[in-house]
Amino acid sequence: MIELRNIHKAFGKKEILRGMNLSVPKGESMVIIGGSGSGKSVTLKCILGLIAQDKGEIFIEGKNAQDATDRDAFLARFGMLFQGGALFDSMSVWQNVAFRLLRGTEKKTPLEAREIAIEKLRRVGLSPDVADQYPAELSGGMQKRVGLARAIAADPEIIFFDEPTTGLDPIMAGVINTLIREIVVEMGATSIAITHDMTSVRAISDKVAMLYDGEIKWTGAVGDMDTADDPYLQQFITGAPDGPITTA
Ligand SMILES: Nc1ncnc2c1ncn2[C@@H]1O[C@H](COP(=O)(O)OP(=O)(O)OP(=O)(O)O)[C@@H](O)[C@H]1O
Ligand SMILES: [Mg+2]
Repeated sequence: MIELRNIHKAFGKKEILRGMNLSVPKGESMVIIGGSGSGKSVTLKCILGLIAQDKGEIFIEGKNAQDATDRDAFLARFGMLFQGGALFDSMSVWQNVAFRLLRGTEKKTPLEAREIAIEKLRRVGLSPDVADQYPAELSGGMQKRVGLARAIAADPEIIFFDEPTTGLDPIMAGVINTLIREIVVEMGATSIAITHDMTSVRAISDKVAMLYDGEIKWTGAVGDMDTADDPYLQQFITGAPDGPITTA
């Protein structure tokens, strides 16, 4: 469903991705782990075409993403939960959730869009009376749920989650992880999540890829992670200060 071949991306002299390869089969959940600043968010932005890679190709269902001439149709295939939520402050909760439904070629009437938004809010555990509130009136956990409702509002085939549990207490993080897993499975979606949170990795992924030094150092099934003999992976999952990963 998603394939990255030899992706390179630098900002000025700083090389962030240096030959990254990754492949996510249809219907699977991949989690990318890696240190802060290793290029995880940049990877998602490259797939979406928000940032252009310097070298390499990205394929979505076998088609080169750069050949997609209809940007709206291309982006309509994706749902995204942004790192930090990224809700629009000036819009009510339902307008945030229905953002895409209210725009584009297949836009719904406000009444239909509101109805879908309320249904999606219910799916993420929020009651209809939240619909007319504003993001600033909600707790962090509720904002994550709204972001999740927005990501699934248009029933995308592919969903990206960038740090879905950052800033939440362990119980709320667990609730969000469970919800993500359930929703992805029930939609039959292909997903990529990014997280530092190892509990989250175990809860939501089928497969794990470890990004370090611009490349995927290890990839495999989540069940093989603990016994894998990759020193980068082991240092990351155990949080050991000593090992091949150096912190500047
Ligand atoms: N638009 C940009 N212009 C210049 N540098 C950028 C840009 N976007 C990202 N970077 C740099 O690329 C590097 C990787 O950023 P990225 O956001 O992908 O990190 P990350 O792995 O998602 O980290 P975190 O876990 O902290 O979110 C960082 O050093 C960042 O400063
Ligand atoms: Mg990031």
